Amino acid sequence: MDNLIDQLNKYKEEIAASNATNADEVENFRIKYLGTKGLLKSVMGEMKNVPNDQKKQAGQLLNEFKQFVEAKYETLKAQFSGSHSHSENIDLSLPGNYIKIGSRHPLSITRNRIVSIFKRLGFALAEGPDIEDDWHNFGAMNLPEDHPARDMQDTFYIHQNPSWLLRTHTSSVQARVMETQKPPIRVICPGRVYRNETISARAHCFFHQVEGLYIDENVSFADLKQTLYFFVQEMFGKEVKVRFRPSYFPFTEPSAEMDISCLICGGKGCNVCKHTGWVEILGSGMVHPKVLENFGIDSTKYTGFAFGMGVERITQLKYRVNDLRLYSQNDIRFLQQFTGAV
Ligand code: DAH
Repeated sequence: MDNLIDQLNKYKEEIAASNATNADEVENFRIKYLGTKGLLKSVMGEMKNVPNDQKKQAGQLLNEFKQFVEAKYETLKAQFSGSHSHSENIDLSLPGNYIKIGSRHPLSITRNRIVSIFKRLGFALAEGPDIEDDWHNFGAMNLPEDHPARDMQDTFYIHQNPSWLLRTHTSSVQARVMETQKPPIRVICPGRVYRNETISARAHCFFHQVEGLYIDENVSFADLKQTLYFFVQEMFGKEVKVRFRPSYFPFTEPSAEMDISCLICGGKGCNVCKHTGWVEILGSGMVHPKVLENFGIDSTKYTGFAFGMGVERITQLKYRVNDLRLYSQNDIRFLQQFTGAV
């Protein structure tokens, strides 16, 4: 009997120390210890040599040994039996790891929408530099040095070289395009512009515009109106009303500003529309013959229209943002509200 106990303890030690690095080794373990010609079978065979009065105790020991071997086999097997071996450790009902993604800035969303509407009408994207010279920003656009309309846009000049300035409008891109392209020209030009204004809820020292320019033979004011009507319907929906008001810009003749019915109050009157029911969204007009001639474009053959709109204003109407400063403060609570919009 003592012999049997010693023997079993030795086997136990050996078994406890066994390991498997793959499923084949687990199978080898099974054959060696639990197989029909395995160790467990032969140890059980020892029972017949045990004297009758010790059979009960020996039976218990052998049973316990059997359970030991089988338990070890189960543990080894569990390591290589695929995903369900881990299922006990994983709580599948736990929420996954949330990956934070950024959101597009509301001004980018609006700019992209404006550009894509005009692209569908055949306008190509054009860009120009933020730092401009006097000629492209003013001179070429029919604002000579002594022109009173220069005061309409308070300009930031570059300290080191005052013939350079931060562009005050994207109309400078019109000049850049006419300088390098021949008609027909059909471009849409988004960009940032700068003016020396005191920062408040309603004014900022930089903001964004989208400029449009279309030059070809026989371009008329009717084309301008139709193009801008289409834009407004695509941007704001079919119910929105539109009106043109005569205006003045040195680079267009005739000139007009376009208003849309206020989206905030539905035309009834509120702070945003200053209780008029209408909000101005852009300036426009027929390109002044002098501007065309500045770039050697024959104004007896070609005509064109141009327009410039404020991206902040359009974003305000779409998303009801009532303070311009929010756009540049990078407050995550503001920006997060646009997650998912494109
Ligand atoms: N540049 C003008 C501004 O900043 C907007 C503008 C008006 C652009 C009429 C145009 C236009 O192209 O034709 O206020």
